[in-house]
Amino acid sequence: MRNYFQVRLFLIVIAVSFSAFSVAQPAPENDDNLPTDYLSKDFHAGRRAALREIMPNNSVMVVLAYPERTFSEDITYFYHQNPDMYYFTGYKEPHSLLLVFKENQISSSGESFNEILFVQERNPQREQWDGRRLGTDGVNEKLGFKTVMNGKDFKDFVIDFSKFDKIILNQLPADVKKNRYEKADLFSLIQQFKEKSAMPEQMTKQNKFDYRLYQDLTAQLREIKTPEEINLLRKAIEISCYGQNEVMKTVRPDMSELEIQGLHEYVHKRYGAEGVGYGSIIGSGENGCILHYMENTKTKIGTSMLLMDVGAEYHGYTADVTRTIPVDGKFSKEEKAIYQLVYDAQEAAFKTLKDGSKWMDATNAARNVIADGLIKLGIITNKNEVSKYYPHGLGHHIGLDVHDRGFYENLKKDMVITIEPGIYIPEGSKCDKKWWSIAVRIEDDLLITQNGYELLSHFAPRKIEDIEKIIAQKSVLDNYKLPPLKSGQKKGF
Ligand code: GLY
Ligand code: MN
Ligand code: MN
Repeated sequence: MRNYFQVRLFLIVIAVSFSAFSVAQPAPENDDNLPTDYLSKDFHAGRRAALREIMPNNSVMVVLAYPERTFSEDITYFYHQNPDMYYFTGYKEPHSLLLVFKENQISSSGESFNEILFVQERNPQREQWDGRRLGTDGVNEKLGFKTVMNGKDFKDFVIDFSKFDKIILNQLPADVKKNRYEKADLFSLIQQFKEKSAMPEQMTKQNKFDYRLYQDLTAQLREIKTPEEINLLRKAIEISCYGQNEVMKTVRPDMSELEIQGLHEYVHKRYGAEGVGYGSIIGSGENGCILHYMENTKTKIGTSMLLMDVGAEYHGYTADVTRTIPVDGKFSKEEKAIYQLVYDAQEAAFKTLKDGSKWMDATNAARNVIADGLIKLGIITNKNEVSKYYPHGLGHHIGLDVHDRGFYENLKKDMVITIEPGIYIPEGSKCDKKWWSIAVRIEDDLLITQNGYELLSHFAPRKIEDIEKIIAQKSVLDNYKLPPLKSGQKKGF
C-alpha cells in the first residue's frame, strides 16, 4: 500500500515538473485507421435544428455532460457521455455544457448565434494522462460548431437568462464532485449556471425552469430514428446476433457464465463495437430468473437452460438481444413447452406492430398468450396470476440508451424497439416441481415500418428447431486452447 502511494507521488512530481516546460501543441493528426462511420456533423446539426423547431418561443435548452464516476480511488470508470449531449453535438468528453436557443442571440461583440458549446480546454499534460481532447478548434472542425468556447470562459460569458420565458433543462445531477485537475469542471459549470440563471433551490410547477419539457422534447426527437441512427442500430444488432450465434455453436456444460460473457463481448469487439449497452446478463438455470443478473459467477453452466441477454454498443447505439438455449443441445419436454409459449407470445405481439398501432395492444397480445398458456399447463389457475411468472413489460425503445427515451403510447414508423416476453419459474414456486428453474426470455429488436415491422435481429435463430440446429454446429471458437492456471485453479482450457 505504502509503495503504491510513493509511486503515485513520484509520478505526480514528474508530471508537474514536466508540465512546467510543456507548450500547448496543435491537435494531433492521427485519424488513420479510425472508424469512418460515426454520426456525421450534419446529423448533429440537424438534430439541433429539429430541436429548435419544437422549442417554445423565447426559450433556451441547457444540456450538461454526465459527471465522471469513481471506480477506485483515483481511477474513474470509462467515461460515458450524456446521450443527449452526444445526440445534439457528437462531443464525447466530460466537463461540457451546451446551450441551444430558439431565437438568434447577439453576443457582446455583436455576432449572431443560436447555440454555443463550452468544452474542455486543450491541455497536453492532462491529455497525456487522460486522453486526447478536441478543444475548441477540434470541435469547430470535426463537429462543425461555429460557436464554441472553453469551459473556463463560461464564467465571464454574458447571458441574461432572466429574459427567457423557459429554461429547459434536465434534473441537475446531485452528486457532482470537484475535479482536482480541472478548474473549469462540471461542478463549476453547474455552479456558474445556477448563479447566472438565479435558479431557485425549490422548483414550483409554474417555474420557468422546465424539466418536464426537457424530457418531452428529447423524447419526441429521440424516439424516431433518422436513417443514420438506424444504420448504426442495424450494425449493433447484427453484431449482437453474431455473438449469440457463435456462443450457441461453441457452448459446453463445463463453461462458466463469465466465459460465455467474454465470448459474446469478444465477438462484439472483433466487429468494432466499443462496448455493451448494459451489463451482460448470462444466467444459467435458476440465475435466469433474476431479470438483471449481471454477476455471471457460476463456474459451470451445466446442462440446464442458459439465458443470454447481451447488447453490443456500436458508436453509442445499443442493441438488446436475448436468446435462451438448452446447453446440452435439446430442449426437454418442459423447457420446450415454456419456450414455445414465450415464442408464441412474441409472435402475437409482432402481429400488432405497425405505424400507428399502440404499445398497449402489443403488450396485451403477449400477456394474453402467456396467461392462457400458463393456465393450460397448470402453472397458474387464473389470468391475474400471470405477473408472478411474467413480471416485466413487453419492451422498450433502444438507441443511445438501452431503455431509450420515448412516450410509449403509439408506435410510429422509424422507431426501433424491443419485444421481449419472458417466463421465469424460480425454485419453490407454487407449481409442479418439474417447472422449477426454467427461465426463458426471447428478446428481439424491430424497426417499425408503415405497414408492419422489420425484424432487425433475424440474424440469430429464435425457433426451437433452429436453435437446436445451430447448437449442433461447429464454431471458430471451438479450438482455442489456453494453458491451465498454475496457481491452483483446476480447470484447463
Ligand atoms: N437488457 C435489459 C432489458 O432487456 O431491458
Ligand atoms: Mn430489453
Ligand atoms: Mn435485454
